[in-house]
Amino acid sequence: MRLASELVDLKDIEIVNAYSMSLQPCTDCGRCIKQPGCMFDNDDATRFIETLKDTDTLIIVSPIHFGSFSSEVVTLLSRLQTLFNGKHTRKDTRPKLNSLKVITTAGANNSSMFQGAKLTYSILKSLFDPETSEFISLKNSDALKDSTSLSPYVSIET
Ligand SMILES: Cc1cc2nc3c(=O)[nH]c(=O)nc-3n(C[C@H](O)[C@H](O)[C@H](O)COP(=O)(O)O)c2cc1C
Repeated sequence: MRLASELVDLKDIEIVNAYSMSLQPCTDCGRCIKQPGCMFDNDDATRFIETLKDTDTLIIVSPIHFGSFSSEVVTLLSRLQTLFNGKHTRKDTRPKLNSLKVITTAGANNSSMFQGAKLTYSILKSLFDPETSEFISLKNSDALKDSTSLSPYVSIET
């Protein structure tokens, strides 16, 4: 979030904090293969997915944990499976974003730590078909002091 606050005006956006949400991971129950929605139709992930219909830009912010987004963020993203099935299996909805950004940091001084997050990013790009997209990463985060501005150290890919 420290890096995100340097890169984005957080006052202008709605922050959805996966760490404080009440949400269940996708259990692959198969319900959304046949119909829209989710068996967990009343938790925060369902409300998040509902707001995506009116969202112009989605910015996903996460540290790298064990080579992936943090488990809280992956749990939330797993619930997008209903949108994936809507587009590819039921073929009754086409989720759309104008812009998608990922902002992620890794403690190691090693760009390969972002491979898992990049794969997730490409899956999200294919799901939301955004006009513009950016994968913004910062490695070696743990070596940077709290007082240091982080943004000069970022790498930006599309
Ligand atoms: C549970 C856990 C797993 C982590 N796994 C990795 C990892 O696989 N690779 C890596 O480079 N850093 C790893 N880190 C370090 C974090 O990526 C690093 O501390 C993070 O960039 C700090 O961001 P934050 O202050 O927003 O948490 C891990 C940290 C934690 C707590």
